[in-house]
Amino acid sequence: MKGEPMTTTPRTGRQAPSTPPSATDAAPGVEIRDLTVAYAVNQTLLPAVHHVSLTLEPGTITGLVGESGSGKSTLAMATVNAVQPPGRITEGSIDIEGIGDVLTFDRKRLNTIRGAQIGYVFQAAQNSLNPLEKIGRQVLDLGRSHKVGDLKELLHFFSDILTHMGLPAKRILTSYQHQLSGGMRQRVEIAFALVLRPHVLVLDEPTTALDMITQANILDIIRSVHRSQGLTTLLVTHDIGVVADIADRIAVLYGGHLVEVGDTVEILQHPAHPYTRGLIQALPRLTGDIAAARPLAGRPPTLTTIARKGCIFRDRCPIFLRDHPARCEEQTPPMREHGSSSGLAACHFIGTEDGSAVTAVATVHDSTAGGTGFRRIPPSPAVQGHPHD
Ligand SMILES: Nc1ncnc2c1ncn2[C@@H]1O[C@H](COP(=O)(O)OP(=O)(O)OP(=O)(O)O)[C@@H](O)[C@H]1O
Ligand code: SF4
Ligand SMILES: [Mg+2]
Repeated sequence: MKGEPMTTTPRTGRQAPSTPPSATDAAPGVEIRDLTVAYAVNQTLLPAVHHVSLTLEPGTITGLVGESGSGKSTLAMATVNAVQPPGRITEGSIDIEGIGDVLTFDRKRLNTIRGAQIGYVFQAAQNSLNPLEKIGRQVLDLGRSHKVGDLKELLHFFSDILTHMGLPAKRILTSYQHQLSGGMRQRVEIAFALVLRPHVLVLDEPTTALDMITQANILDIIRSVHRSQGLTTLLVTHDIGVVADIADRIAVLYGGHLVEVGDTVEILQHPAHPYTRGLIQALPRLTGDIAAARPLAGRPPTLTTIARKGCIFRDRCPIFLRDHPARCEEQTPPMREHGSSSGLAACHFIGTEDGSAVTAVATVHDSTAGGTGFRRIPPSPAVQGHPHD
């Protein structure tokens, strides 16, 4: 599988004396190469992440999307080399610029970089605070475990982050987790991930289970701290609407395979892979029209049901269901460039007459609408007339 090229811009002059580096200059690139993570099920190793190569460009937000079970959390855990048994990273490397390949680090080195170099917010993080200790005490524990010299300064910085997130810092520090709302706990978790001043941030479903207003508020906070702290951010979500709002780039996982990656606006305007198109069309707030939204038919594969040969998406793919091309059954489509876009997608029929019939989509990001607006363009006749639609 072809990986995206790492940015060719040399990241020099970070500390040039006359020109202080901007926050983004400090952000490192992350290069995931050929990553495979498998779970042992009945003594058989079954891949949940399959030969994934993905670059997180310095200073960008990459949205990792896919349905439940597509391997998002497994991939995210691998970025901090924290996959737990029965899971195992069987192949690949994860190079963080200036740090090295985290998959080669021993436990001691991993404990040092987790938090300090890579901030991580776990899925369902709202429940991962220590229920028996006040938040302020947990900040001090974290500082001690990372041998932070000035704990007072650490608490001060934590309070600053909380304030920036619109939280009453004093009250939070003296509270137990059960005294905070879900949205507050989520923001406190993000503050924990940021307090040691990492330059890489991994957020696994940071807005799931929150109401729409709190969700929007947290996305605003993520966008703002990403910029002000100079971060390279991986945002994991099953909701492509969330990344549409906030990510610079989108990576789409299906059955543990990366099936499309590219610039957010390009993907929303011209999704190349039929699966990406299905994800977008399932969301009324992206299509801009509840009547036009169509749920994606069928179910995602599991570790045991995923096709071992050919395209893993074929039993849900409109092109395959219409024409049954033998290539889709026999050959796994590689990631490749398509059209004039810098994106990559894994479908045999991208760029052909059949493939282009599925690239039209009913929405386009409206950058003049404050970063969150979408305006609707009518579906093309090719899309409307498709037998699967
Ligand atoms: N401990 C485990 N043992 C066996 N299989 C597992 C284990 N953890 C995850 N899996 C399987 O690995 C696949 C990927 O799971 P993962 O949690 O990474 O998906 P996800 O995309 O994060 O899903 P969700 O959106 O539900 O969080 C799934 O098929 C899941 O059932
Ligand atoms: S390779 Fe074939 S089955 Fe897979 S997405 Fe493309 S057309 Fe559909
Ligand atoms: Mg998950």
